[in-house]
Parts: sequence; structure tokens; C-alpha cells
Amino acid sequence: MRIIADRLELVGEYYFSKKLQEIEELGDPPVINLGMGNPDIPPPLGVSEALSVAVNQPMNHGYQPYRSSIELRKAIATWYKQNYAINLIPDSEILPIAGSKEGITQLSLALLNPRDEVLVPDPGYLTYTSAAHLAGAVPKPYDLTEKKGWFPDFDKIVSSGVENVKMMWVNYPHMPTGASGDKNVFQKLIEFGQEHNILICHDNPYSFISDTSKVSILSINGAKETSVELNSLSKSYNMAGWRVGMMVGRSDLIHAALQVKSNMDSGLFFPIQQAAIEALKTPTSWIINLNNTYSKRRKIVYKVLDSLGCNYIEHQAGLFVWAKIPVKYKNGDEFSDWLLEKHHIFVTPGSVFGKNGEGYVRVSLCANQETLHQVKERLA
Ligand SMILES: Cc1ncc(COP(=O)(O)O)c(C=O)c1O
Repeated sequence: MRIIADRLELVGEYYFSKKLQEIEELGDPPVINLGMGNPDIPPPLGVSEALSVAVNQPMNHGYQPYRSSIELRKAIATWYKQNYAINLIPDSEILPIAGSKEGITQLSLALLNPRDEVLVPDPGYLTYTSAAHLAGAVPKPYDLTEKKGWFPDFDKIVSSGVENVKMMWVNYPHMPTGASGDKNVFQKLIEFGQEHNILICHDNPYSFISDTSKVSILSINGAKETSVELNSLSKSYNMAGWRVGMMVGRSDLIHAALQVKSNMDSGLFFPIQQAAIEALKTPTSWIINLNNTYSKRRKIVYKVLDSLGCNYIEHQAGLFVWAKIPVKYKNGDEFSDWLLEKHHIFVTPGSVFGKNGEGYVRVSLCANQETLHQVKERLA
């Protein structure tokens, strides 16, 4: 008897979980890891203080309501109103979750039946595919190409057959390519969802990073009927390890996700909820400063990529630079392996995100300027 469930055959171990082990074993000089989008700057000042005050209260250590506190849900509603001009009902249209990643799986388990099809972006975040597999559903990659600005080709999707498609994952600002979403793109996505009866699930964790437009898919007329959105404090407030995010949208979908979530975990730790409330009040000037820091880093990364003969589009949104590798390398894997073995510098090969990422690499901006200058020196 095989002890491991069949569904894991399709999922496999997360790419970075394996790669980090390999990187650790490489020895001196220590590898400079520009592979992961793991913010290295602390959250806004008041956030840790809010956590600390709450954690020192003896009554704050117990289980929390599955939907977390109404104060947190109200803070999320205010944040959505201020930043995206969207009205949400805290009681029924908002579910605090432990991050966008967890939300992807909860939503998939809540909505997908075995053999339902799910459109997932190629290239795109791997978890959409894994979550579909875990739900017994069938991921159906749709192409994103540089030629089309990394936006879906709806005619091509329709001609591949959408009769059994129930959900479509989209993510703008897009990881890994840095393509920005605007209202036009979201309008087309919503119309596509309405026409083909497909739920558009928008994963929006990068909307504050290197992108001043801050768009939510829910701002499109009629979007609440056809879409649901995940958002997160991981990148916007550098709280990736804290695990705080939110699912927002139609109340029946939020309720279905809660049915899954309440059987898997509980509400967020109360001091983290208090810290999240504080984070959501952060003035825009803090975000502007954060983005200025990323912008300075981005310029150094451009120089590094120039010295390596890579091409890239400027003004990408999000936490990465997505670059095309020189033609002399077979693919991004060969280029990334060469960089790792020869210079002890790690960048993520684009193929990790799908076949359309093959000729590219993704470089993270989560390293300070000093480290990025070291990268330049190693390559000199
Ligand atoms: C597209 C995308 N969605 C979701 C996540 C996960 O975000 P969170 O920390 O909120 O789970 C990431 C993080 O790497 C991501 O790139």
C-alpha cells in the first residue's frame, strides 16, 4: 500500500524549499540570494509596538473568532475604501486570513469540485496550480507572453475550450513579469468572466509595490458578482512572516471559504490582529519611502543585468526585475545554474513559473544596496 496520498504526486515539494537546501550546501563565499521576494525591511514602527502591547496582556493568548475581530474587519474595510475606493461590508464581505497563499488553497477547496477546470497564468505563481491539484481539480495554464504585454489572449483561451472552467486566477501587478494591471485590463477580465460564467480570482499582494495606481479588480462595475480578491500585508507593510492577509468580495464566496478555513485553522493571533490594524493605518508617505528604496535598488539591478547581457523592460511593478537572458544560454535554468556555481549568486529561473518563463530570470529587490553592490563586484 502506498502510504502517501495520490494527490501529492501532482504537487511535489515547493521549488524554493528544495533550492534553499542546495544553496546552503555551496559553502564560501556565502551565496547572495536574489531569488526570493522576502522583504528585508521592517514593518512601520507602530506595528511592532502594537504587537508588544497586546502580547503583554494576559487575556490575549487564547483562540480567536474564526473570522478574527470585527475591529480588524472594519480596519480592512476602511483601508479598501481609502486605497481602492471600494465599499465592503465588514460582517460578510471580508475574511482575514493568514496570507494570500493560504487564501488560494482555502478558496480552491471551497469552490472546486473534482475535474472542474481552473485557468492558471503561465508564467505565474505556482500555488494556483498546486491548490487546484489539492482540490482534485484540473489546472489549465493560459499563456502570458511578452508580445501580448503579459496579458491574457482571450480568443486563444476561448478556442482552447472553457466549458468546464469554473475559476480563473489573475494577478496584477503580475508576479513574475512585473506587468501592471489597470482598469482596462480588469474590465476585460470581468467581461470575460461574465460571458463565460467563470469566477475571476484576483491575487493582489503587490498592488502597493513600485506601482502608484493601486487598482483592485472589485472597482470594476459588476465585479463583485464575478470576482473575488486576495490581498496581503506581506509586501505592502513588510510583514511576510507575520502571516496576515484578507479575502474580500461576494458574501456567499467568503462564507464558503470560511467553512474551509474554520475546519483548518482558527482566527489570527490577537496581537497580530492588533498589529495589522496599526499597519493598515500607515500613512502613504511610508509607502512612498519604501518604493523609493526599491527604486534605488532596481537601478543597481539594471546595471547588474546590463553587465550580464540581459534585457528587461523598465517600469515593472512589484518586488522583482524580470529579465530576458542572453541567447548564448539554452534557458533560464542554465543561466541561473552558471551564476550560482561560478559567482555564488542566486536568481530564480523563469521556468519555475511555467514554460513561458523559460528564457527569463527573476531578480528580487529584497536585498540592500550594499549587497547589490557586492553582486556587481563579484561579476566584475
Ligand atoms: C503572486 C503571489 N501571490 C501570493 C503570494 C503569497 O503572499 P502571502 O505572503 O500573502 O501569502 C506571493 C508571494 O510570494 C506571490 O508572489
